[in-house]
Amino acid sequence: MTDDKNVLIRVRGLKTWYPVKKGVFKHTVGYVKAVDDVDLDVYRGEILGVVGESGCGKTTLGKSILQLIRPYAGNVFYDFPEGEKDLMTMKKKDLDEARRRMQIVFQDPYSSLNPSFTIFGSMQEPLIRFGMKNKEERKKKIAELLQAVNLPEDYMERYPNEFSGGQRQRIGIARALSVSPEFIVCDEAVSALDVSIQAQVLQLLMKLKEEYKLTYMFITHDLSVVEYISDRIIVMYLGHIVEIADTQELFANTLHPYTEALISAIPVADINQRRKRIPLQGDVPSPVNPPSGCPFHPRCPKCQDVCKTKKPEPVTLMKNGRPHTVCCHLVKTEERKEKKE
Ligand SMILES: Nc1ncnc2c1ncn2[C@@H]1O[C@H](COP(=O)(O)OP(=O)(O)OP(=O)(O)O)[C@@H](O)[C@H]1O
Ligand SMILES: [Mg+2]
Repeated sequence: MTDDKNVLIRVRGLKTWYPVKKGVFKHTVGYVKAVDDVDLDVYRGEILGVVGESGCGKTTLGKSILQLIRPYAGNVFYDFPEGEKDLMTMKKKDLDEARRRMQIVFQDPYSSLNPSFTIFGSMQEPLIRFGMKNKEERKKKIAELLQAVNLPEDYMERYPNEFSGGQRQRIGIARALSVSPEFIVCDEAVSALDVSIQAQVLQLLMKLKEEYKLTYMFITHDLSVVEYISDRIIVMYLGHIVEIADTQELFANTLHPYTEALISAIPVADINQRRKRIPLQGDVPSPVNPPSGCPFHPRCPKCQDVCKTKKPEPVTLMKNGRPHTVCCHLVKTEERKEKKE
């Protein structure tokens, strides 16, 4: 699946910095480097998990790819039927078409559903925007979409507050699907739901992925969820990608001390399978003044002198013919392979 011909989105050198303004004249005095120099490929048909602690830049990365936030620098190449184009240099009109192909489902669908509109009212809006003029046609389409997410079609007459959290999330998913996207960013899409509803919504997302041939970027702070559903996982820390590997490989041969600490914190029911927990000291440092050298060094239990001064370059090791990329000085040089992802 992860072959170069199948790349849907190619992100290179992506930087999304939020200006920090001070004083009456609102001068920019610095930047929150929420996403800083990120390279990644999203393969067609995959589920790419994105994990990391709160504030490490997951949402900013998702929104930057979708151009819901305009990044400060870098390229986001999208594979259109007519060939690859850079979303960063696209005109607004062309960007609208690109945005139809890419949708986002948030943790709280309240944010995308207008409380004073019925579900029909909220769901018809993107359909009108993308050219469905006939009301009956829109009704039929919305009925189909509700059916696809296992909700009765007459729910379209109801208001958002008349639904449970799980139902509202399914409406959010139906709404995202309404414009026939190829790529969906699920940003903590199941995090607010209780475990049984979480499993239902995850199963629904898997079913829809097959039915509609979708590609997902699945953002979560919950590693047990991404372990269950993702083909590959990206681990982010302070705006940087610190490790990328196939899910099984990441769990079996963890290379970055930060990933090790995250994995060690996953609750395991079976007492014999419990891992030794590696505590993470302190909080994530400020992305306005990130630490020198490796951004993780002040919290790393394996920190060496070099980590304090020199920023580690990403290196890709080939494991059973599959790439495993990591950004850490401690990965032995003799194991390194020159090829970068
Ligand atoms: N609009 C904004 N203006 C300024 N700073 C922002 C803005 N949005 C996010 N940030 C900052 O950028 C950094 C990354 O935020 P982001 O929301 O991408 O993190 P996250 O990994 O999604 O976190 P969480 O798991 O809590 O959702 C944080 O330090 C945050 O405070
Ligand atoms: Mg977030």
